[in-house]
Amino acid sequence: MYLRYPEFKDKVVIVTGAGSIPGKKPSIGYATAQKFAKNGANVAIVDVNETYGTHSLELLYGQGFEPTFIQADMGDKLQIKEMVNRVNGELGPPFVLVTAAGIEKVGQNFVEMPEQDLDRILDVNLAGPLYCCRGVIPYMVQNGGGRIALVGSIQGNVTLGEPTSYQLSKAAMKALARNIAFEYGSMGIRANNIEPGAIATGGMGEGRGPFPEEMRSRIAMNRRGHPDEIANVILFHCSEEASYVNGTSILVDGGWLAGGTPMKVSDNIPNDPDPRVKTSSK
Ligand SMILES: NC(=O)c1ccc[n+]([C@@H]2O[C@H](COP(=O)([O-])OP(=O)(O)OC[C@H]3O[C@@H](n4cnc5c(N)ncnc54)[C@H](O)[C@@H]3O)[C@@H](O)[C@H]2O)c1
Repeated sequence: MYLRYPEFKDKVVIVTGAGSIPGKKPSIGYATAQKFAKNGANVAIVDVNETYGTHSLELLYGQGFEPTFIQADMGDKLQIKEMVNRVNGELGPPFVLVTAAGIEKVGQNFVEMPEQDLDRILDVNLAGPLYCCRGVIPYMVQNGGGRIALVGSIQGNVTLGEPTSYQLSKAAMKALARNIAFEYGSMGIRANNIEPGAIATGGMGEGRGPFPEEMRSRIAMNRRGHPDEIANVILFHCSEEASYVNGTSILVDGGWLAGGTPMKVSDNIPNDPDPRVKTSSK
């Protein structure tokens, strides 16, 4: 079998938010897990939602891969610790961490939104990646290095009218990548922050309904991106081909920001359902 990135063969890779909604387009996490599996990696699919996680597991088993699913809430520090320890115990020390788990609530700013929603966004999107990194870095140091891909957002760069808390959490990924690079670069760890634009995923992408024409027209390529187009960038940045890329943020938005100020999204897109709530697979 031809492996595009042979360095990932038998390496342990954690992808958070790698579940996929049955019957919908894949998530960025799933697309990433699939590409690592295709390159021979030993992948841990982490998701809070059992239905979504099991669905990804079944899809990958159907393609001849044997990933492991770990159900864990990336908004809960204890569960993050347990997840990392379980990966290390059952699969071996993690070489790659991809933090794709994320949520957002559209429409209310941080003053108006219920405190519990504000806390939850910061717990999952900001504290989650921070504690995942805190969990894996000691293993990476012990084993001579590792790769971290944080999944930020175009919204780490601009205000799209979505809640401050989401943008705050995504902007923080820039600083987290920089800090890890600065503190652990000499120990063989590279960390970068991949910032998607509008991506047609089953949850945060198409799951929120039709793509507003006005928004599409502002994207230079006149379309949403595919989850694979983000996964490709993640794999490249974790690979030896990107051996000197460290602590940086990479915008993958089809030229959306190239056109200037993106439109406000809050009036057009309904909220995502909380993935902790089980949904039927219809
Ligand atoms: N889709 C886009 O347009 C877009 C744009 C910019 C950034 N992003 C970012 O990319 C990442 C992935 O987005 P997506 O579109 O694939 O989303 P998605 O909703 O399709 O998939 C996200 C997955 O994460 C899981 N998840 C959510 N909260 C979790 C938690 N607390 N613990 C563990 N798993 C959890 C969900 O169950 C789901 O399976 C997110 O961080 C998002 O902010 C997405």
